[in-house]
Amino acid sequence: MAAPIGVFDSGYGGLTILKELKKQLPNYDYIYLGDNARAPYGTRSFETVYQYTLEAVNWFFDQGCELVILACNTASAKALRNIQQKDLPHLGPNKRVLGVIRPTTEVLGNFTTTQQVGIMGTLGTVQSNSYPIELAKFFPGLKVFQQACPMWVPLIENGEFDHPGADYFVKQYIDELFKQSADIDSLLLACTHYPLLEAKIRSFLPPGVKLVEQGELVASSLVKYLKTHPDMALKCSQNKQMAFFTTDEPALFEKQASLFFGQKIEAKHTDLA
Ligand code: DGL
Repeated sequence: MAAPIGVFDSGYGGLTILKELKKQLPNYDYIYLGDNARAPYGTRSFETVYQYTLEAVNWFFDQGCELVILACNTASAKALRNIQQKDLPHLGPNKRVLGVIRPTTEVLGNFTTTQQVGIMGTLGTVQSNSYPIELAKFFPGLKVFQQACPMWVPLIENGEFDHPGADYFVKQYIDELFKQSADIDSLLLACTHYPLLEAKIRSFLPPGVKLVEQGELVASSLVKYLKTHPDMALKCSQNKQMAFFTTDEPALFEKQASLFFGQKIEAKHTDLA
């Protein structure tokens, strides 16, 4: 039976991806799960992020989902490959779990003229080196500079992203990145939370630097994927329904989520593990 597309993040960030999915694929049904009770993932070990993400994938499979998007760079960087290679073959060989790094790295090199790009992400995403490794496959010769921004997700999850106090940490990490190279001309926000800081980030960027956000890239890649995998497209239901779940407090999730998603939503609590 056809089922909704599952969309997962450690917290609210994946809603910035879901917003774009809904824009580009409006007829599909979606189930969103935010593991807010255990967010942030960005500073956690490989083993922990893998364990938590696997629990989430199992949860989506229990809901009947055939296709799950890890709308979280940290989970995509630290858990996706293991899940695809080790777990899927016995959990559901015909089910699919996709991440956000591949659809982004496939096209990121097209944005730069200096052949120098900046990646800003969580500590976990940066330490995994997933972006430089994947980008080297699609754009050999591209110079990739990374900057971990460990304070940004806590600022965002705590609703401080548009307060003046956030300026200090936004400027600090941008300055650190451009100290590595002044010729970076394209900057990827490689964390699904960061679009909420977009206005502040833009205000501290050197002139002429392009800001690349992932939502649109991931959504257009999924459009292509569903076209080239009609068998999977048929397994995804299309009634324009959405459901939202959080491992933490639904009332708080509803309040914060409307900022990330751009509209009011209703959330339910669920437990993982
Ligand atoms: N939104 C997640 C990402 O894209 C990470 C946030 C976290 O640290 O949990 O990387």
